[in-house]
Amino acid sequence: MTKAPSVNHVEVCFSPADYALYESGFDLVVVIDVLRATSAICTALQNGVERIKPVATVEEARLWQAKGYIAAAERNGAIVDGFDMGNSPVAFNSKSQQLKGQTVVLTTTNGTKAIDIASNKRTVVIGALNNLDALSSWLLKQDENVLILGSGWKDKFNLEDTICAGAIADRLLGSGKFIADEDSTIAAKFIYRSARDNMFAYLKASSHRRRLRKLNLNEDVKYCLTPNNVSTIPILKNGYLVPLDEDPAANQ
Ligand code: MLT
Repeated sequence: MTKAPSVNHVEVCFSPADYALYESGFDLVVVIDVLRATSAICTALQNGVERIKPVATVEEARLWQAKGYIAAAERNGAIVDGFDMGNSPVAFNSKSQQLKGQTVVLTTTNGTKAIDIASNKRTVVIGALNNLDALSSWLLKQDENVLILGSGWKDKFNLEDTICAGAIADRLLGSGKFIADEDSTIAAKFIYRSARDNMFAYLKASSHRRRLRKLNLNEDVKYCLTPNNVSTIPILKNGYLVPLDEDPAANQ
């Protein structure tokens, strides 16, 4: 007798503050911080950084830096004093030769905190608009419930993570292999659909775009809102983010 195909859940959690309300029943979490942490992580690993150690606090990043590691730290959009790099995917691109084969320690305002919160799960992968299709195709091949966690801004809802979460949910729901129960998932799907034709304009008044504009980081925003310029799917393994190998044995 052939096994009936299983239907899994995909749900969207808007912020780390809501995580405890959503996490039950999910072993696989996708963490998203479109502006800019997860876009930077996807870009760095695509460009040959060997692994990224996400840490939740600046103090932890300083400890790793003192041990000789390359460390990058961002707070409120700016590079933290004492660090050479922050969270700019454009900078990770331009420094790719220097960073090839290296371990990079990274702390950011919201993104690395969300990764830390999700690290209680068996599988944590990193999503961005940059790796949207690669990640969605991989998720479609997993027979798992999928929770998409937006990093938000200091525990509040944000629009860019919701658009990306909605894009992934839309692809999974459209396959017929997934269902959604939560209104947050339905809202994310419809926000994505209304934004997808011009995300840059749609986000014009959003809080983090305004913040990054003041810091002259428009190039980063354009980069982060470019879908599918990266094929790497970062996965958390033993506390490090590494490129997912499609051979499941390689990621045990
Ligand atoms: C974050 O983690 O909050 C962000 O990525 C902020 C940023 O650097 O734009």
